[in-house]
Amino acid sequence: MIRFVGAGPGDPELVTVKGRRLLEEAGVVVYAGSLVPKAVLGWTRDGCELHDSAGMTLGEQVEVMAAAHADGKAVVRLHTGDPSLYGAIGEQMRALDARGIEYEVVPGVSSFVAAAAALPTELTAPGVSQTVIVTRRPGRTPVPEGQDLAGLAAHRATMAIFLSAGDLEGTVADLREHYPAGTSAAIVQRASWPEQLVLRGTLETIADQAAEAGVDRTAMVLVGDALRNEGDPSLLYHAGFTHGYRTAEEPGGAAAGPADAVDGSDAADGGSADAAGGPDGEDD
Ligand SMILES: C[S@@+](CC[C@H](N)C(=O)[O-])C[C@H]1O[C@@H](n2cnc3c(N)ncnc32)[C@H](O)[C@@H]1O
Repeated sequence: MIRFVGAGPGDPELVTVKGRRLLEEAGVVVYAGSLVPKAVLGWTRDGCELHDSAGMTLGEQVEVMAAAHADGKAVVRLHTGDPSLYGAIGEQMRALDARGIEYEVVPGVSSFVAAAAALPTELTAPGVSQTVIVTRRPGRTPVPEGQDLAGLAAHRATMAIFLSAGDLEGTVADLREHYPAGTSAAIVQRASWPEQLVLRGTLETIADQAAEAGVDRTAMVLVGDALRNEGDPSLLYHAGFTHGYRTAEEPGGAAAGPADAVDGSDAADGGSADAAGGPDGEDD
């Protein structure tokens, strides 16, 4: 069994409990050395064989993992953040499938949520944005047609933009096709690392702020007015709102919830659907 483990954004304490245990038990670890800080490798035991994937081809990585597996060693493939995002695990899983080697994926704290924590902000602010778009600008890996940044900007949702700090002027130009210049924007470089850098601004200012601060890589761009932390109060914790886990305190609020809930699509959230345990009652 090969374990793909999310290393989290950098702080060793942001590795999951399961990820930490697997690192402690591992005989061989293949890690993404360009992004995973050495501190995370501190969870491995003395004598664990470490391979930095930065200098290896896919074939070499699979060969190391397959050989260690055949020797009966516990193998961890350590990916920064969460392995399912921009981690190239798909091709590794296909190569392991071809060899009949089993694997499991242990999720990790992605850098975009670590960046939100660093600000700190809620990315899904009621009344502002209920959508987060996770995306990137094209680099050596192209972005498929219909998924270009300028097109996605038309939703005016919150955006988490990976792998794009190298061309912030271009990133901002794409976003400005739909977001106003005063839209909130932030950059978090090396979120959760000791040298974490947080820049808060707007689409008008953020590229200059980043140039001045020398931001170049390992940075997350967050965009959208949710970052202002000025959203409407949630219905979930509203005293007049009943849902499957709590009864309204205010007279008359039991079924309908607050007045602003009873219109359009929010009516279902504020009304009987949630009294019976609807989706908002199950939110965190
Ligand atoms: C190859 S992707 C890996 C993403 C990773 N799987 C994740 O879930 O965070 C690398 C990009 O992730 C972002 N990134 C990774 N670690 C970061 C961190 N600690 N702080 C800010 N951005 C980070 C940057 O945009 C970087 O260019």
